[in-house]
Amino acid sequence: MKLKSSKRSNSGFLISFEGGEGGGKSTQIRHLVKYFTDHNIPVVLTLEPGGTKIGSKIRKILLDPKNTEISHRAELLLYLADRAQHVEECILPALKAGKVVISDRYADSSNVYQGICRKLGLEWTMALNDYATDGLYPNIAIILDIPEKIGLARVQQRILTQKFNHKSSNAQLDRMENEKVAFHKKVRQGFLLLSKKYPKRIQVINAALSEEEVKSAIQKLIRNRIQKMKGQSLWKKLEQ
Ligand code: TYD
Repeated sequence: MKLKSSKRSNSGFLISFEGGEGGGKSTQIRHLVKYFTDHNIPVVLTLEPGGTKIGSKIRKILLDPKNTEISHRAELLLYLADRAQHVEECILPALKAGKVVISDRYADSSNVYQGICRKLGLEWTMALNDYATDGLYPNIAIILDIPEKIGLARVQQRILTQKFNHKSSNAQLDRMENEKVAFHKKVRQGFLLLSKKYPKRIQVINAALSEEEVKSAIQKLIRNRIQKMKGQSLWKKLEQ
């Protein structure tokens, strides 16, 4: 069945950050938020799973390391339920108000983690993403690419530091981080494969570079993409 997609018009700009574990998404997202606010551009920072009140309940189920019995299909549908609520309640209203929205993960995570790595099939995850988002896709999806072993080592280090600083004595790997290295290797390959399939929408950044280098590369990408959207008032603000 061909789904009817209402690409509802909006004057905003949607950016998603994607990639495997430990690619430095949070740090780079913080830099990008500052970049926009420094240019007086209203920006909404959000995440998946968990960008809404209902979503945060779904997130708890999805990431609880004790929930090992979740079936792959149930896992996919929970991520999609979170996304459907997220689009309707948070992302779309912000885009319609002309804001920039940065989402820490979005539809491509389902394509890679569930479609490719859990072997549910890209045809399913793509069709279901169309349904859950009502056809709303990012203007640009940025993949922070890092070899899986380096990424996982960074995550382990973060947890050790949290424990050491007594910020959270029960800090532990979540259900997805607990997957074996081979799974995370597939995640990396999956994102790279997807970026080859959709070279315009999905852009890969080498996250093994220094924090400053990654930050500049992201800003360059964003400037180019916004500049190409002729007539955008966003570009005028970025130029200032
Ligand atoms: P999170 O704690 O947000 O960490 P990070 O994004 O820094 O890795 O964990 C979200 C986890 O959920 C992450 O392992 C990727 C996974 N995920 C999916 O498997 N499918 C999805 O559709 C989404 C949005 C995330």
